[in-house]
Amino acid sequence: MTETPERYGTVVIVLHWVIALLVLFLIALGLYMDHASIDDPTALHTLHKSVGITTMVLIIVRIVWRLTRNLKAPAFPPSVPKVQRVAAGSVEGILYLFQILLPATGWLAMSSMAMPIVLFGWVSWPLIPLPESVMDDGDLPMFLLQLHQWFSWAFAGFIALHILAALYHAVVKRDGVVARMMVRRPSK
Ligand code: HEM
Ligand code: HEM
Repeated sequence: MTETPERYGTVVIVLHWVIALLVLFLIALGLYMDHASIDDPTALHTLHKSVGITTMVLIIVRIVWRLTRNLKAPAFPPSVPKVQRVAAGSVEGILYLFQILLPATGWLAMSSMAMPIVLFGWVSWPLIPLPESVMDDGDLPMFLLQLHQWFSWAFAGFIALHILAALYHAVVKRDGVVARMMVRRPSK
């Protein structure tokens, strides 16, 4: 994969946008299935878990790819002050952290209550083997789901910050920061 200095590589860009859409969908679905009065939320839970695990697999590919193939981010335009570069890098680091914590707490919660995960009603996904002593603790699943909920709200807050910053660069500054995350149009 060739990487120009001005923008991210195609694999990073495609993974960024696909994962962004899936994560926004998961947050919206999670809030809807948990806070709307729905008679039987089982089908929505199955969809959330299936899309959540699929997203986790893509996130692992993204992390491995960035660590092994594409570690160096493209340079910011010189007009971006150092404080904004550090802020952007810190928020992106935090977004990576939540991309691990969210699926991990969801998967662990299902494993701690021995609740089978069947992706899209089709493929059985393994549970994490946990020691008996841990499985017998009746409070653990609730605690993990509570963590999942808290993390998802914090995640949503940082995503909002990240999107606002992108909009600021695209609409107010028009400085080419967002173009670094766009696939280059073929030149005529
Ligand atoms: C990036 C991945 C994920 C995101 C962003 C996400 C987000 C959310 C959100 C926003 C909620 C609603 C929180 C609330 O009640 O306010 C939720 C609930 C839930 N999620 Fe996830 N989730 C992800 C992955 C997963 C995975 C992989 C699983 C399981 C395999 C899972 C299982 C659940 C369950 C069971 C609930 C309902 C919790 C309850 O009833 O209190 N999630 N998720
Ligand atoms: C529609 C909403 C979004 C927009 C407009 C957007 C825009 C951007 C832009 C312009 C960049 C490049 C800026 C830079 O390098 O500092 C970027 C990078 C990044 N974005 Fe987003 N983003 C969105 C959603 C998300 C979501 C939901 C996540 C988390 C799941 C996310 C995670 C990241 C990460 C980790 C980077 C650093 C590059 C990488 O490692 O892929 N973005 N985003």
